[in-house]
Amino acid sequence: MNEVLRAIRERRSIRAFKTDPVEPEKLEAILEAGRWAPSGKNTQPWRFVIVESQEKRQQLGQLVTQMDMIRTAPVTIAVLLDTEAGYDRIKDIQAIGACAQNMLLAAHSLGLGACWIGRVRDEQVERVLGVGEHEELMMLIPIGYPAESPPPKERKPLADLVRRI
Ligand SMILES: Cc1cc2nc3c(=O)[nH]c(=O)nc-3n(C[C@H](O)[C@H](O)[C@H](O)COP(=O)(O)O)c2cc1C
Repeated sequence: MNEVLRAIRERRSIRAFKTDPVEPEKLEAILEAGRWAPSGKNTQPWRFVIVESQEKRQQLGQLVTQMDMIRTAPVTIAVLLDTEAGYDRIKDIQAIGACAQNMLLAAHSLGLGACWIGRVRDEQVERVLGVGEHEELMMLIPIGYPAESPPPKERKPLADLVRRI
């Protein structure tokens, strides 16, 4: 198995983090991986807010259901959709998903853990993040060195998922 396929297979959602900081060059590499995701008509509708100050982490921690993750992760990337940059809602959201997955895989490949936290659209959270009028919060991705090593979550067998025509 090559390293891309191995990373896809071995990545896990990590929800507990050590306090060690994430090196700036690793954070940049993760953001670069997001930036290189595909997007419809190459509109690149993603925007990123990096949450690393104690103050913002605490504030978000109080608002988001899975608060411990956001409070304890040394850094969280909030991924926004710039609705003015996009051109088709479904395709824009698909592009944001590709961007997020690229970042999860990049984090894993660098020895870091991360988790995709969806369903965080909330006015208060968006205010803390400084989300603009034509932007929408799509997901939060807390990142840090893993303090857990969860077993793989089961996947449905291919035979149940694939039809050949
Ligand atoms: C769209 C989406 C939303 C998710 N939302 C959450 C979430 O709010 N909280 C959470 O702990 N995990 C969330 N996850 C992570 C999933 O629970 C996880 O990917 C799934 O259980 C498979 O586990 P694995 O990532 O370790 O393979 C989300 C994943 C996706 C793709």
